[in-house]
Amino acid sequence: MDSNLSDREKWDKRYLGGSYADRSWPSAYLEALLSLSDSLPKGGRALDLACGRGRNSIFLARNNFLVDAIDISPVALRYAVQESIKSNLSINWVLADLMEKKPPMRGQITASYDLIVMFRFVSNDLLESLVSMLAPNGVLISEQHLVKSQKDETDRIVGPSSNRFRVEKGSLKHTILKACPSVDIVDEFEGLVQDPDREVAQVSRICVARRV
Ligand SMILES: C[S@@+](CC[C@H](N)C(=O)[O-])C[C@H]1O[C@@H](n2cnc3c(N)ncnc32)[C@H](O)[C@@H]1O
Repeated sequence: MDSNLSDREKWDKRYLGGSYADRSWPSAYLEALLSLSDSLPKGGRALDLACGRGRNSIFLARNNFLVDAIDISPVALRYAVQESIKSNLSINWVLADLMEKKPPMRGQITASYDLIVMFRFVSNDLLESLVSMLAPNGVLISEQHLVKSQKDETDRIVGPSSNRFRVEKGSLKHTILKACPSVDIVDEFEGLVQDPDREVAQVSRICVARRV
């Protein structure tokens, strides 16, 4: 990919080329937590960061959440809007760069959230600030690709080719607890998962709840 392109242009190009077009299912982790865990809210305000084509935003809107969803790619958001209209769902889609110094949540996004999700988009700085945006008892869920070893290259582990966009083992938990020790760990997992398209990813998953 051309390194002179901005992040927005890179992602637009990917989405225009059909990336993620067939990945319409919500995250298996999000789905399992929502149906199995008593610690998760059953509705309320939700925020989906780097929402892409909106697979998780749409799932949350179908499950009684009022959703704000942010992404840098206008192309991805165009697909997301089309899908939500088809499904008759009202979602607040926000076009913004999450890496900007003044994140959009200090402007357009002001609510405190019952649920915040950040899937497969790495930013430790952002992760650190998310707990403070949770309502009392609010829940933060994140899933990221783990750094790849040489063995993983041969094992066909999917995800970003650069380890820059992956996280070290334990780093999600470490970052969250460093920013805010007063959270309860609802669930954590690190290891191999198989997506519904049978592709294998090596991920770090964490779900924390803010104490009242
Ligand atoms: C691997 S996709 C994951 C999409 C979605 N979270 C999911 O799990 O289906 C990464 C997303 O991050 C978005 N993204 C990349 N850089 C961004 C930034 N600086 N601000 C906001 N979104 C960004 C991309 O447009 C892309 O939709």
